[in-house]
Amino acid sequence: MNTEKIYIFDTTLRDGEQVPGCKLNKDEKIRLALHLEALGVDIIEAGFPISSPGDFDSVESISRVVKETTVCGLTRAVQKDIEVAAEALKHAKRPRIHTGIGSSDNHIKYKFNTTREDILERAVKATVLARNFVPDVEFYAEDAGRADLAFLAKLIEAVINAGATVVNIPDTTGYCLPHQYANKISYLVNNVPNIDKAIISCHCHNDLGLATANSLAGIIAGARQIECTINGIGERAGNTSLEEVVMAIKKHKELNFHTSIQHTKLYEMSREVSETMRMVVQPNKAIVGDNAFAHSSGIHQDGFLKEASTYEVIAPEEVGADTSKIVLTARSGRSALAYRFKKIGYDFDRDQVDALYKKFLEVADSKKEVQDEDLKLMAEEITESIAY
Ligand code: KIV
Ligand code: ZN
Repeated sequence: MNTEKIYIFDTTLRDGEQVPGCKLNKDEKIRLALHLEALGVDIIEAGFPISSPGDFDSVESISRVVKETTVCGLTRAVQKDIEVAAEALKHAKRPRIHTGIGSSDNHIKYKFNTTREDILERAVKATVLARNFVPDVEFYAEDAGRADLAFLAKLIEAVINAGATVVNIPDTTGYCLPHQYANKISYLVNNVPNIDKAIISCHCHNDLGLATANSLAGIIAGARQIECTINGIGERAGNTSLEEVVMAIKKHKELNFHTSIQHTKLYEMSREVSETMRMVVQPNKAIVGDNAFAHSSGIHQDGFLKEASTYEVIAPEEVGADTSKIVLTARSGRSALAYRFKKIGYDFDRDQVDALYKKFLEVADSKKEVQDEDLKLMAEEITESIAY
């Protein structure tokens, strides 16, 4: 069965780098960009060139070293921003300018203090200007998640006519529910006459914890590009997590989508970004968190030890993570205890495990996690008592 490609647009180096305390220097950005290219992302948003001389430098250097992947620079719908971005991208093999403006009445009134008509005009002007520099122009309709649908459709139609090759429909404030975001994309698919001339992109923030769900709803409704970051980092509660959407697409074959991501490199990439940005990955983070493949309750451990698929929909090796862990706590059962004893060299029979289990619960109730050293002490005690 032929599956449709979902383009992965990584914005770790731009939206991700906006996280307080995570600013990267040029060398760090170049190293991460090369790893993102090796991971297989289709587009690297390298930065916002007009924002600082350092960011201009980073985007320019990334444009020189990245070989095949599209390199993208962000701009506002402002002439100077676009000219500077074009300059920073001039050595890129596949340059993309990402320009745009607010599209919700909230942004139009409070950020721009202007009218919908003026926004439309500025959007078209910016797109035309960007197309003078590069053949690939992405337009973002900021805060599209809260924008009036009919106006959004008009804006998107106008920028496609002006030459936009990709139209980004950001849920900038992470406000939409999945069915609402999907309806927004479907509305554009059905009401923008020239929509087939551009790729629709999802850019979802995670303020309500729905960024991944919204991005998946978006592609099911017709979008073909997802904007995301490694570990889901980004402004406020973050962006859509790259590893989550990639693995959801991979696991749900019935969606008939594929990406070009080398999924076995996901864990390593996650650690690389975490270390470089000095931002820990939460232990319960899907796909790449320390506990993503750890089993600690007796019921789960017993099932998992009989057959891994009872409690794992992804095998750790699929994302390049260490093997699954059986963690011993006061909620663990006999099978887990026997398994862990076996791993450290003790093959106890059922009666011995029963006897050890009582002792184990006493120890487990007194600490967060029972370690191999605790097990060794228990094993020595029981072996000595048998010897006497
Ligand atoms: O969240 C957002 O709307 C953005 C745009 C600049 C694409 O990051
Ligand atoms: Zn964003």
